[in-house]
Amino acid sequence: MPEQRSSIHGQWSSRFIFMLAAIGSAVGLGNIWKFPYIAGENGGGAFVLVYLCCIALIGAPIMMAEILLGRRGRRSPINTMRVLVREERAHRAWSLLGWGGVITGFLILSYYSVIAGWALAYVFRAAAGTFMGVDAETVVAQFEGLLSSPGSVLAWHTIFMVMTMVVVARGVRGGLEMAVTFLMPALFVLLLILVGYAMSLGAFEQGFNFLFNLNFGKVFQVCETGASGVEQCRFTGEPMLIALGHAFFTLSLGMGAIMVYGSYMPGKTSIASATLVIVAADTIVALLAGLAIFPIVFANGLEPAAGPGLIFQTLPIAFGAMSGGQFFGTLFFVLLVFAAWSSAISIIEPTVAWLVENHGMRRVPAAALVGILAWFLGIGTVLSFNLLSGEEFQLFGKTLFDLIDYLTANILLPLGGLCIALFTGWVMSRASSLDELGMRDGIGYRTWRFLLRYISPLLVLIVFFNAIGLL
Ligand code: PHE
Repeated sequence: MPEQRSSIHGQWSSRFIFMLAAIGSAVGLGNIWKFPYIAGENGGGAFVLVYLCCIALIGAPIMMAEILLGRRGRRSPINTMRVLVREERAHRAWSLLGWGGVITGFLILSYYSVIAGWALAYVFRAAAGTFMGVDAETVVAQFEGLLSSPGSVLAWHTIFMVMTMVVVARGVRGGLEMAVTFLMPALFVLLLILVGYAMSLGAFEQGFNFLFNLNFGKVFQVCETGASGVEQCRFTGEPMLIALGHAFFTLSLGMGAIMVYGSYMPGKTSIASATLVIVAADTIVALLAGLAIFPIVFANGLEPAAGPGLIFQTLPIAFGAMSGGQFFGTLFFVLLVFAAWSSAISIIEPTVAWLVENHGMRRVPAAALVGILAWFLGIGTVLSFNLLSGEEFQLFGKTLFDLIDYLTANILLPLGGLCIALFTGWVMSRASSLDELGMRDGIGYRTWRFLLRYISPLLVLIVFFNAIGLL
């Protein structure tokens, strides 16, 4: 019986700790590094609105479903799916969901660790006072200086991967609980300070409008000025796909990370209210990051579409100019590294838990194995910004980093999420989901089930077909 099942990996000591861990997983580079730059590349306001709709209509219901599955199965995602397939008398093919998650996790961690490595490098730069009084040009040059040195990026990538392996090896509950209890709130406060600084800039309104003023033209069209000097615009569904993919990425959905955390969740606690808090916290952090960054972009005449380097090319200007900037700058990048750390841990936990369950491995070698494989793959991303950045090394105009990012965030995670929605909404019995959610069969449950069965899958499919131009 599901009620008696317990996880061999242990359980979070309380509901509060589960929430912190899940928020630790959700809040990471996705919120502070990725959200601002993809919002910048895709024209701002309308993109942000599409993203927020994806979070509310797709992300939140699927997060409830993913936690539910994990807690009911109480095993690594691969085995959880196996157990549930048996229990619900479903087709065995659904177990592929767990496998998909393992592969997606490897791919994501490989580049995640490289970007977290950039943040690590910036901790030391900030502490050394490198940003004091710098102007926009210097900051861009400093960033490019880091990227053009594969050796040092590789070293930072290695350090970050080792940090991740160490915590995962010790068991997620150990070091992580304390880290998330204090560091997440601290990051939040620091973001508020940065937004405060941004408000003092003349360009705050411009930054605010960029993020929240709707300009659908930019989300639905790409315009190019042809050789004749005439601007030609055509429809594209890609920004919507990017917004959808990011909703999954930022909430850690679609690959088993939230599922495995759900499997350590104490029984009898409300999944619905936990989801609400996690989703709200994640969204607020992303919006604060955007509010801090875009005024700096406009005040310094920088390019909102600067790409993956955006935060590294803007925030140092703010730290360089504010009083106490050396201290705040160092603290900010330290906290960013911690946010990335608590996310990276959740990315490999599903695979490590599975190795422990099925292959009798202890956590230490299991974590080492997964970390080392992802580290190797990460070398591709390290080189995507220097030796392999040239066009001759690109596929569809994308570097290896771009390809892995595109494949995971925009395709694999939404597909994984779609399967989670379909399995929980259509395959799992109503009685099982009611029981596991601990809800009454009232309006709340019915709304959730309706969203999960119809709205989320349909929206995902529409955005997919839209992006490949079939609709
Ligand atoms: N949600 C994390 C972030 O926003 C990234 C992540 C993706 C974590 C997938 C786990 C699984 O940075």
